[in-house]
Amino acid sequence: MSGAVIRLWADLPGATINPNIYGHFAEHLGRCVYEGIWVGHKSPIPNEGGLRLDVLAALKQLRAPVVRWPGGCFADMYHWRDGIGSKKERPQTVNIWWRQAEPNRFGTDEFIRFCQAVGCQPYICANVGTGSPREALEWLEYCNFGGDSTLSRARAINDGAKPHGVRYWGIGNENWGCGGRYAAADYAKEFIRYGSFMKALDPSIELIACGCSPMDGQNPAFASWNHDFCNAMPHADLIDHLSLHRYFGRGDGIHFTESEYQALFVDLVAMERDLQLADAVLRYFYPDKQVGLAVDEWGVWHPSAIVDNGLEQANTLRDAVFAGAALNLFNRYAHRVSMANIAQTINVLQCLAMTDKARMVLTPTYHVYDMMRPHMGARLLTQEVESPLLEGHPVGLHKTFSTPALSASASIAAGKILLTVANQTWDQDIETRIDLRGTKAEIASGRILNASSPRDVNTFDAPKTVMPKRIRVEASHGEWVHVFPAHSFTALSLTLA
Ligand code: AHR
Repeated sequence: MSGAVIRLWADLPGATINPNIYGHFAEHLGRCVYEGIWVGHKSPIPNEGGLRLDVLAALKQLRAPVVRWPGGCFADMYHWRDGIGSKKERPQTVNIWWRQAEPNRFGTDEFIRFCQAVGCQPYICANVGTGSPREALEWLEYCNFGGDSTLSRARAINDGAKPHGVRYWGIGNENWGCGGRYAAADYAKEFIRYGSFMKALDPSIELIACGCSPMDGQNPAFASWNHDFCNAMPHADLIDHLSLHRYFGRGDGIHFTESEYQALFVDLVAMERDLQLADAVLRYFYPDKQVGLAVDEWGVWHPSAIVDNGLEQANTLRDAVFAGAALNLFNRYAHRVSMANIAQTINVLQCLAMTDKARMVLTPTYHVYDMMRPHMGARLLTQEVESPLLEGHPVGLHKTFSTPALSASASIAAGKILLTVANQTWDQDIETRIDLRGTKAEIASGRILNASSPRDVNTFDAPKTVMPKRIRVEASHGEWVHVFPAHSFTALSLTLA
């Protein structure tokens, strides 16, 4: 068995972990919104005003903080007026990116009701590609304007007089690609136009500008998108977050090999590099403002997820351990990462739950979110991990890197430390000394997510194949030693003495 040490400095708490790091993303794509969230009032599937009750309960349990909507690529061809008012009068439009009909049954007011039922913040992505500043401004007026106008009256008729209070507004999605193939400086001009008017109407909103991970596309110009955008967008008052998207995939979703399994985890080195570069760019261009990084689309995207099947794929234990490692990484960058939205909430890509008519099954990834809940709003702890290393060639980078086989993050809140650890190895159990510097703990209990194979999945017939199990860790002679099994994710709660 290999050995490792995790050192935690409980007396050196750092940044607060923004709860929005545990956010979600729901696009009009395949069965995410329709079937996954919205079944309609008349459906035999138990629902509250058309919203599936099982899905609402699952997201409530996670205390899901924020959901991004309506896309994705769909956002830059969505016209919000098509989705309000009497359902009978709503047009049937074409969802060109995902090649399906858009019945417009689920629009702004349904989305807001969904967020209210879950207890999360809505995050709306406005249309830049085929829209206009006027259309976005009017959407904001419809949602947030508290005074008397034709649009606020329309909202009152459709959904009650109280403003929706939508705080997060994205200005387009992937505008270097499906959002209109802009050059960074041209997109900056659009961002300034949209932002100037929207912030004038409601200064309390937070705007998310479209950023880019270098590997989001094949075009070398993408490597400098964030720099070029910020260089052309000097108005720090307009920008609150810069978005990054990154999808990961190595081999088949289930029948991956050991080396593909390992390579997936090493690819997080590339994500960390995205964060470091974007952090440096934001520090340079907006030195006097804390502009956040919103990783508002991320997750695994396996080859089986194609447009024809609505981007549906198997979700294994490997994916869940990967999600835990990615979320640990976002926690460790809590000083800059202000939001992260896994793609996509239900049925699509690295979803948290899958539905089949009235049935719903939670994916292993769902359980990782459940286990990490106490990190939300807690203070990140200074940490050091010495563990065996994984070596490999991260996607898009031109040399070999090594990264600790144990991915960890720790936070403190209300006298308790939460330590979450992903053992990213295929087959190495790692005996680990947890060295609490500057403090002592009395008890440690927690949960582990593991299964006999990283390829294991939950199915409708066997929904509990990959489920967290309770564990208790005893200190021996004041030392905390714990074995983190291969391909597992563990959350340990340590109560301070
Ligand atoms: O999540 C699927 C798609 O991936 C989104 O619509 C788009 O923004 C990204 O390329």
